[in-house]
Amino acid sequence: MHVTGPVPARIGAELERDFDAADDPVGADGVLALLSTTVDDAYLESAGPQLKVVANYGVGVNNVDLDAARRRGVVIANTPDVLTRTTAELAITIMLALMRRVAEGDRMLRRHDPWQFSLEFMLGESLDGKTLLIVGPGRIGRETARLAEAFGATAIYAGRRDPLPELLARADVVSLHCPLTPETHHLIDAAALAHMRPTAVLVNTARGPIIKTADLIDALRQGLFAGAGIDVFEKEPPPADFPLLKMDNVILTPHIAWYSEEGGEDIRVMIMDDIKSILAGKLPRHVVNPEVLSAPNLRFHPKG
Ligand code: GLV
Repeated sequence: MHVTGPVPARIGAELERDFDAADDPVGADGVLALLSTTVDDAYLESAGPQLKVVANYGVGVNNVDLDAARRRGVVIANTPDVLTRTTAELAITIMLALMRRVAEGDRMLRRHDPWQFSLEFMLGESLDGKTLLIVGPGRIGRETARLAEAFGATAIYAGRRDPLPELLARADVVSLHCPLTPETHHLIDAAALAHMRPTAVLVNTARGPIIKTADLIDALRQGLFAGAGIDVFEKEPPPADFPLLKMDNVILTPHIAWYSEEGGEDIRVMIMDDIKSILAGKLPRHVVNPEVLSAPNLRFHPKG
C-alpha cells in the first residue's frame, strides 16, 4: 500500500499493521490518495498493472481521472456521508460570520482600532428570513439547507438543469456544493457574478476552481456583491499576495470544511474498511466507479 502524503498516526499504524508499505506507487496493490495528489493516466500507468484500488481520502474525486481508472480497471473509493455534516456546518459558520461581521470585528480589535459601543456600529445582517441558494443540491448542499432553515432562511436549489442566472438574482446567500467537473469548472465567473444582488454573499466550501478567482476579485473590488467566504482555492495554498487577504468583507479558511475530530474518525474507519475489502477481493461500500467491478477485462474480481 502506498500513501501519497502524511496521514493521522492512527491510520499510519493501522496501515503498517495490515499492509506492506510502498514508498512510491510503482508495484503497489493499493494507493491511499490525499486530495492534493493528481491520479491521472500517467500515474496509474507508472503504478503498474497490479494496482487494484485508489482510495481517495475525501469525498471529491476531481483529482482522479475516472476515465483512465475505468480503462485500467482500477477501483476508486471515496468517503461520502461521513463529512456531510462537518462541511455543511462550516458553510453555515462562514455564512453567519460574514453576515454578522465576526472576522471583521475580530481583526478590528486586534488592530486596536479606536471604538466605543454605539447603536449603529458594525451592524450585521441576520440569516433569518433570507433566501439561500444552494448550488449543487447533493448530500452536503441539502444538509446545509437543512441547517440554514433552522436559522430561518429559505433554501432554493440550482441543479444542473436549473437556470442559474435567475436563481442567483433571487438569492441573499449563495453557497456552492457541486462537485468540480468540466461542467462546473469556472461556473461562477464574471457573467454569473453579475447576477448576484449587491447585498448578497457567496460561500465556497466545495472546490476552488468552481469560481474563477480573477473574476471574483474584480467583482469584490467593484462591490458587485457584499462579501465572500472561501474555504477552497484555485491554488492551495493561495499566494502571499492574494488580494482577498486584504479585503474586510471576505473570510478565508484553509480547506478545513470536511474534517473534524468526530468526522475524522468516521472517515478513517470508512477508508480502511474499503481498502481492506477491495484488497481481500470483496466488494467495497463506497465505489465511485462501480462499472469497474463488473467489467470482464478487469483486475478486480470479487471472490464472494
Ligand atoms: C474534501 O475536500 C473532500 O472532498 O472530502
